[in-house]
Amino acid sequence: MQLVRLHLSHFRNYETAELTPGPFNLIVGPNAQGKTNLLEAIFFLGTARSHRTPSSEEAIQDRAEQARIYGAVERGSVRREIELLLIRSGPGRPAGGKQVLLDGKAPPRLSALLGVLQVVLFAPESTAIVRGGPAERRRFLDLLASQVRADYLSALQEYTTALRQRNELLKQIRAGSRSETLEAWDLVIARSGAALTRLRAELCAELAPIAAQLHARLTDGKEHLSLVYRPGGVEEEEAFRERLLALRSADLERGVTSLGPHRDEVELRINGSDTRRLASQGQQRTATLALKLAEIRWIHHRTGDLPLVLLDDVTSELDRMRIGILFELLQELPSQVFLTATHLDEETLPRSASPNVFEVRAGIVKPATEPAF
Ligand SMILES: Nc1ncnc2c1ncn2[C@@H]1O[C@H](COP(=O)(O)OP(=O)(O)OP(=O)(O)O)[C@@H](O)[C@H]1O
Ligand SMILES: [Mg+2]
Repeated sequence: MQLVRLHLSHFRNYETAELTPGPFNLIVGPNAQGKTNLLEAIFFLGTARSHRTPSSEEAIQDRAEQARIYGAVERGSVRREIELLLIRSGPGRPAGGKQVLLDGKAPPRLSALLGVLQVVLFAPESTAIVRGGPAERRRFLDLLASQVRADYLSALQEYTTALRQRNELLKQIRAGSRSETLEAWDLVIARSGAALTRLRAELCAELAPIAAQLHARLTDGKEHLSLVYRPGGVEEEEAFRERLLALRSADLERGVTSLGPHRDEVELRINGSDTRRLASQGQQRTATLALKLAEIRWIHHRTGDLPLVLLDDVTSELDRMRIGILFELLQELPSQVFLTATHLDEETLPRSASPNVFEVRAGIVKPATEPAF
């Protein structure tokens, strides 16, 4: 899969930007010029969201009413066009407004965007997966699987909505303002929750050996990364419903649902030690990179195609050995790569790659006039 054209207007510090990427793209410029903003725009095309902030509105250029991100994607001989509008909230316009057009037409749901352009992003803040709370790891699984499996996305959406409604109702019943039964929501929670639990278990079982193998390569066989799924729900629908029922009075007392995949944990260990507490910063970065590279392979395994790989600032985040292995691994499965850096360092870049180099200055991006090397 390749992004063959990117066009932005009023996105972050870009008034407009136009890019014709190749297979390997280097985005170069000093700090605070707009390099990460370009990766963020590509991430938006893949996922309809930012990797940096839950507020899409933040990405609209200051004082502009809306931002437009356009991308043309080629997969074999099939070309698709994605257009995403981010709309500033205001009177009559809901907060966080987004509109998507696929091949010029509005799909029934924004989520139709997922899977058209698959992206894997590795940025300094990605280490939150290994050092943050369980929600970070659930988000990691969700974002990955939603780009590939429609059944995952629909189970996730159904579960998230039902959970919110059930919790709302629990609070109202507790306050005495509603007397409806929870039965209807329990059914939906058990069905979608059991499905989501099975899908996450399957995903983790597939990811674990891939991540472990990549991690071993990145650490020269010295470290073992293990990934274990610890479900907060139950895989079997009927058993899920029975446990919900057994916990009902406790749930009513607390006003929240205590059972379900919203309580899932994914345990990550390096040589048996929890990465959250015991790994060094370098180990956390390496484990994160192994997980990101595992995403690429898992997407390839599932779809037969390769996602776009967005690498933000890796050359300053990783040591030379790991950068070398990273490029080796990227060449084994040749994804389209977008890499940002403050300066070009020919020693760290793969020799065989002939990159397209783009220079970014104060929200203006243009192909480099000088050859890279
Ligand atoms: N909504 C916005 N409107 C206008 N400018 C914005 C907006 N959001 C961010 N910016 C500007 O974008 C710039 C930062 O861009 P970006 O994060 O892409 O920098 P960078 O080139 O990746 O820098 P670094 O090398 O430090 O990571 C900042 O100058 C910031 O003020
Ligand atoms: Mg940056």
